[in-house]
Amino acid sequence: MIYGERIRLRAIEREDIPTFLRWFNDPEVRQYLLMFAPMSRAQEERWFESTLNQKDDFLFAIEVHVEDKWAHIGNVGLHRIDWKNRTAVLGIALGEKDYWGKGYGTDSVRTVLQFGFGALNLHRIELEVFAFNPRALRCYEKAGFKKEGVRRSVHFHEGRYHDAYYMGILQEEFAGQKA
Ligand SMILES: CC(C)(COP(=O)(O)OP(=O)(O)OC[C@H]1O[C@@H](n2cnc3c(N)ncnc32)[C@H](O)[C@@H]1OP(=O)(O)O)[C@@H](O)C(=O)NCCC(=O)NCCS
Repeated sequence: MIYGERIRLRAIEREDIPTFLRWFNDPEVRQYLLMFAPMSRAQEERWFESTLNQKDDFLFAIEVHVEDKWAHIGNVGLHRIDWKNRTAVLGIALGEKDYWGKGYGTDSVRTVLQFGFGALNLHRIELEVFAFNPRALRCYEKAGFKKEGVRRSVHFHEGRYHDAYYMGILQEEFAGQKA
């Protein structure tokens, strides 16, 4: 387990697959992610199998403590780790919509940044976020990410094109935040 302020991160398990199917087949959640088509159980199982041998990818389940139990509310991960340049791409999704806007996303991002910069000694962590997702933008800014660029009109969603932002944070910036 990796503990944040109000969340903890654990490894994902095969038993989580039905939960993933419920979350990622919900258009309200999926609209913010790169996936755009409904996902089948077989696809999700194949994806899960492929994660087992990944050495350049860390995916965690986010859990919060409610009513004396740990509840699984989303996933967060560091992907496509480049060990030479010491970079990674951060991804996060809280699938349980009741938990949006309560600070759990920011807590989870800070916790996975601590893992990336502290345990893995990464130099830079980056991500891409759609311009129509101000909640995510604000969450990343609160965790210390800076906007680095805009990809104009890159994402087609609901009949029109949208911009996306590149954001990044460096190891020394994260360390400076905590000092
Ligand atoms: C994006 C996500 C991880 C953020 O986590 P969260 O727990 O909901 O976010 P937090 O509560 O930590 O922070 C959200 C911030 O955005 C602000 N916010 C929410 N809606 C907003 C809006 N429409 N405009 C501007 N700010 C907004 C909140 O007020 C809060 O900022 P504050 O603390 O300064 O008040 C989560 O909402 C999620 O998983 N959403 C669905 C999937 C997704 O978007 N993934 C990211 C893909 S890049």
